[in-house]
Amino acid sequence: MPLEPNKPLSALVAEADAALRLNFQTEPTTRSAAPGRVNLIGEHIDYCDGFVLPFAIDRYIVISAAPNHLREARIGTTTQETVSLPLDQPQEPSTPTWANYLRGVIRGFQDCGIHIPGFDAHIVSSVPLGAGLSSSAALECAMAKLLEGLTQTSLDTRDLALLCQKAEHDFAHVPCGIMDQFASAFGKTDRLVLIDCRSEIPELVPFENPDLTVIIANTMVNHQLSDGGYAVRRRHTEEALATIGKPSWREVTLDDVTSRWDLLGDPVNRRARHVVGEIERTISAAAALSRNDFEALGPLMAASHDSLRDDFEVSCHELDLMVTIARSIGRSGGVIGARMTGGGFGGSTVTLCESAKAQSIAATLAETYQKSTGITPQIFASRPANGAHLIP
Ligand code: GLA
Repeated sequence: MPLEPNKPLSALVAEADAALRLNFQTEPTTRSAAPGRVNLIGEHIDYCDGFVLPFAIDRYIVISAAPNHLREARIGTTTQETVSLPLDQPQEPSTPTWANYLRGVIRGFQDCGIHIPGFDAHIVSSVPLGAGLSSSAALECAMAKLLEGLTQTSLDTRDLALLCQKAEHDFAHVPCGIMDQFASAFGKTDRLVLIDCRSEIPELVPFENPDLTVIIANTMVNHQLSDGGYAVRRRHTEEALATIGKPSWREVTLDDVTSRWDLLGDPVNRRARHVVGEIERTISAAAALSRNDFEALGPLMAASHDSLRDDFEVSCHELDLMVTIARSIGRSGGVIGARMTGGGFGGSTVTLCESAKAQSIAATLAETYQKSTGITPQIFASRPANGAHLIP
């Protein structure tokens, strides 16, 4: 089967439980799960007051835990060395850096004045790492849910997502928008999460037609170096908005951009053109979905990819190739639309297609991509899944 199956959540929970028992000789009392996400459309505009249309995927980070009666959290994973985080002092960013997501979330609870008892925990994951599918947001949201369980507290879902976003800002130093944490926290089976990033209000949009499949193709490359391509793009958009002189991107028209083209200068003018176009495309996509007009998503996804490639410059050869292969399969081969998804510079593409042809489309994507790059991609499908939750 070219489409890699998604491991059932129950299997991940059993794995996490078994590892906790093995590593800490303790019985799990509290378990949490949080999913990664894929974005159908609305890219690089969550920090520009735009609309985005992601959903939570059927790939999870699961944490199994038990109190340890110490003043520290001891946390292990399948691939990383166990870390010990002292709980009687405010958490600060430190090494190993992968644990900064956990430190940041613990700090968020500490800042709310919530006492965290010592605990042992083990983390397992089926969310591909570094694939533009928000494994870091999944880790933050799973940790936040776990802490809710261990401390018998319950945060408002929006507050939980914002706490996790702050962890990413302050502890991982990524100035991300709200999309990933909102998708991981608010996701629901058979629902897309349409987020108005100005009001920070999510709306669940039905997506349950069994004839449609969303294929996620992980190119297995990640060109995101420490040069901060993401932060630079965000700065460009801020600079553009300041030059245009309006309080929000939601009030900016294409004419505002084109009439100041030289003043904005290159590449800031092209960044601005992407933002305005992508906000419009996402609004059109949401409207098309509400009338069940899935075909309309194809051209919108294509225009989104082209704009991310040419104007926002966050695509790369491998993403373009995967999208080109999907496009060449075409509508007659069952492909409705395809584009890069997530922050870019590598990572994954999203392909909306007919369910009956999903396996053959996945096979063509895998074979052609491998032939051209020598890299075996990871290809799977996901329906919208449930967001972060505690597991009884
Ligand atoms: C990353 C960020 C998100 C969003 C996307 C691009 O995933 O974490 O906030 O900006 O890139 O749409």
